Amino acid sequence: MAKEQASIITIFGGSGDLARRKLYPSLYQLYHRGVLKQHFAVIGTARRPWTNDYYHQIIAESLQDEPNTDAESVRDFASHFYYQSHDVTDSDHYVTLKNLSSKLDEEYGAEGNRLFYMAMAPRFFGTIASHIKSEDLFSKTGYNRLIIEKPFGRDYATAKELNDSIRAAFDEDQIYRIDHYLGKEMVQGLLALRFTNPLLTPIWNKDYIANVQITLAESVGVEERAGYYETAGALRDMVQNHIMQLIAYVAMEQPESFTPEHVHAAKNKLFSHLPVLSAEQAAKDWVRGQYAAGNGQPAYCDEDKVDAGSQIETYVAGKVELDDPRWVGVPFYVRTGKRLPRKTTQITINFKSMGQNIFDTVGCAEARTNRLTVYVEPEQGYTLTLNGKTLGANYELEQHDLDFRQQQADIDAAPEAYERLIRDALSGDQTNFTRWTEQKYTWQYIDAIRQAWDAGASLTKYAAGSNGPAAADELLARDGFEWAEQFK
Ligand code: BG6
Repeated sequence: MAKEQASIITIFGGSGDLARRKLYPSLYQLYHRGVLKQHFAVIGTARRPWTNDYYHQIIAESLQDEPNTDAESVRDFASHFYYQSHDVTDSDHYVTLKNLSSKLDEEYGAEGNRLFYMAMAPRFFGTIASHIKSEDLFSKTGYNRLIIEKPFGRDYATAKELNDSIRAAFDEDQIYRIDHYLGKEMVQGLLALRFTNPLLTPIWNKDYIANVQITLAESVGVEERAGYYETAGALRDMVQNHIMQLIAYVAMEQPESFTPEHVHAAKNKLFSHLPVLSAEQAAKDWVRGQYAAGNGQPAYCDEDKVDAGSQIETYVAGKVELDDPRWVGVPFYVRTGKRLPRKTTQITINFKSMGQNIFDTVGCAEARTNRLTVYVEPEQGYTLTLNGKTLGANYELEQHDLDFRQQQADIDAAPEAYERLIRDALSGDQTNFTRWTEQKYTWQYIDAIRQAWDAGASLTKYAAGSNGPAAADELLARDGFEWAEQFK
C-alpha cells in the first residue's frame, strides 16, 4: 500500500503547458495510487484571472486521455485544486498565497508541509524564490521543498546566478532540480544492471569496453516550443542535462549505497573527470546540424517563430573522453537530434575484441565483439550480443542476441517519469534529482563547446527524416568505429 503524503503544493505556472501535459496527470496518478488522498491541496498560480471552477475544468481536460480515471474520481481530485491569479513581482500576492496555504493546510490537514513547484519561464525563478523568502511563505511545522524545472540556466554564469538566487531562499537539501530522464524506468534500471550482475561489474572499465554510445533520437521537430528552442539548441536542451546524466549513470563508480548522498557523491566524482576542452578539441569532437526540409517536413528555419537565418542546432553529436583512470581511452559517443527517422533512446556498450583467435587453425574468422544495448524508450529492455557457433560441420561463428523486453502492458502500468519524481519529492528523496555541483561541471564542459561553435565552426544541414549529418558518422569512423544504431 502506498504511503499517503500530506502537502500543500503550489505550482507557479499552473495554467501552462507543462502543468497540463505532465504535472496534473502525474498528480492524478499519485492520487489514484493513494500517495495523495485526503490531506493535500494544490494551488495553481499564473497571471490569467481564472476562477476555481474554470481551473477544475482545465484539470479535468488534462486528464482526458489518462488511464485509471472515472468521472467521480476526477471530480474529487479536482476539488483539491485552487487557483490564485498571481503577478510574480507583486509582494502582496505572496501574502495572499501564504494565507491561502495556511487556510488550506488547516482544512486538509497537510501537516504544515509545503512543496513549491516552479513550472514557468525560468527568468522568473529567482524573483519567485526571493519573494517566497521575503514574504516568508515557509512553514514552521513541516517541510519546505522546491521543485525546479529545466532549463537551469543557459551557461555556467546564468546557471550560477539562478542557483545563487534560489539558494538565498532554500538550502540545497530542500531543492529538487528535475531532470526527467532520471525518472525513467530504464535509466534507474541501468544501475540495477550494473551493480547487481557479477557478470558485468568486473568488466565495466577500459580494459574490456571499447566505446560507449548514447543516442537520444526524436522524430518530432521543434513543435510549438520554438520561442524557447531558439535560445537553447540541442546542446543546451539535451546534452548538458539528459545526456550528461546518462553518462554519469553509465560511468560512475558504484555508490556506497543507494542513498542520495552516495549516489550524488559518485556522480560528482565522475563529473569532476570531465576535461576542460580546448577550442580546438571542442571543434574537432563536436558536430552540429540543423534540419532542412525533407520527407514532407518543413525546414527548422521555416517553423513558426524561428528566425529564417537561425544558426540554432537541432542535432548534436560528440565524443566525451573522461580523464578518469577507469575510462582512459574509452570514447563516449553521444548524439541527439530532432526530425531523425524515429524516436529511440538507447545506450550501447561495445566491448573490446578477444585479441586472440584460437579457431583460426580451423579456418574460422575472428569473432566479432560483444555488445550490450540498453533500450530506454520507447522499447524498454536490453540485448546482449554474444558469439556462438553456427550449426553445421564447419567451424563458423555467428552473433546471437540474448533479448529481454518489458511487455507494453507493464510499461503502461508503471509510473511515468514525472509521477515518480514528484512522488520522490513528496517523500523527501533527492536521489533522482540533480545537485548544483553536477550542474556546475556539466555547464563548464558544455560552455567550451558552445564557445568553439560561436567562434565559427560550421552548422551543417540534414534533411528532416534522415540520419543526421554525415559528420556524426565520420566522428566515429576516425576512431575505427561506427554507430551501432543505424536507423535502418
Ligand atoms: C526535453 C527537451 O527535456 O526532453 C525536449 O526540452 C525533448 O526538447 C524532450 O523533446 C525529450 O524527452 P523524452 O522523454 O520524450 O525523451
